[in-house]
Amino acid sequence: MRPDWAPDTIDVERPSVARMYDYYLGGSHNFAADRAAAGAMMAAVPEAPLMAQANRAFLRRAVHFLAESGVRQFLDIGSGIPTVGNVHEVAQRVAADSRVVYVDVDPVAVAHSREILARNDRAVVFQEDLRRPERILDHPDLHALLDLSEPVALMIVAVLHFVADDDRPAEILRTLRDALVPGSYLVLSQASDIGQYGDARADAERVYRNTDNPLILRDRAELTGFFDGFELVEPGLVWVPAWRPEFPEHAEDAARSGFLGGVGRLGG
Ligand SMILES: C[S@@+](CC[C@H](N)C(=O)[O-])C[C@H]1O[C@@H](n2cnc3c(N)ncnc32)[C@H](O)[C@@H]1O
Repeated sequence: MRPDWAPDTIDVERPSVARMYDYYLGGSHNFAADRAAAGAMMAAVPEAPLMAQANRAFLRRAVHFLAESGVRQFLDIGSGIPTVGNVHEVAQRVAADSRVVYVDVDPVAVAHSREILARNDRAVVFQEDLRRPERILDHPDLHALLDLSEPVALMIVAVLHFVADDDRPAEILRTLRDALVPGSYLVLSQASDIGQYGDARADAERVYRNTDNPLILRDRAELTGFFDGFELVEPGLVWVPAWRPEFPEHAEDAARSGFLGGVGRLGG
C-alpha cells in the first residue's frame, strides 16, 4: 500500500535521487526501487552514505556560520527530503526570526517538507526546477517570505551534479546571483571525485542513468567558476569535511568525501 507521504503522481518503481539520498542518510521516505539503486551505488562506491553525511554536516555548519554572521534569509534549492538538522532548524535556533524558502523538484521532498513546516510561519516550500530560475525568483511564496533587497543565503547544496552542462548551470547561477544584493551568500557543494576505485565512476554514472537525473562530476576549476561574483570565505573551496570542521580530526582524510564545497560572499 502507498504510504500517506507518497503523492499519487510519483512512480515508485523508478528510483528518485531525493529518495536515494534519504536512504543513504538513514531516512524512511524511500521505496524498494530507491533502495536497490542506492545499493548498486554503494556496491560501486561503498562510501556513498558517508559522502551524504559529510555533505549534510557541511550544510549544517555553513547555515550555522551564516546565521551567526547575521544572515536571516535562506533560499535552499534542491533542499531534499527533510532530515536531521534542516536549514530552518539550524538557522532559527541561532535567530528565531530567520526565514527559509525551500525549493525542490521532487514531489516527496515537497510533500514531506510541507508537512513538517505546517506550523512554522517563517519557512515555506514549493515545487520548482532549478533549471527554471526565473520561475523560482517570480514565485509568490518566495516573495511572501523573503525580501530580496536584503541579503539572502542561496543554497545550492548537492544538487548541481544533477544538472547537465547542456542545462547551463553557470547561467542558472548567474540568474540567481543577479537577483541578490551585495552581502548575500552562495553555499555550494557537489560531487567531484568518486572515481578513486577502478570502475566506480562509470558504475555510479550508470546507476544514476536509471533516475531522472544524470550524475555529472565536476572538478575544482569548474566549481570555482560557479562562484563568479562571490568571494570565497575561508577556507575556500575544499573537501566538505575540511570546511570549518567542529573538530580538526574531522578534516582528516577529507578527500574521501568526494564532495567539494564552499561559501562565497557577494561583493558590492
Ligand atoms: C542529494 S539531494 C541534496 C539535498 C540537500 N540539498 C542536501 O544537501 O542535503 C539532491 C536534491 O536535489 C533535488 N533536485 C535534483 N534536480 C533538481 C532540479 N533540477 N531542481 C530542483 N531540485 C532538484 C532532488 O530532488 C534532491 O532532493
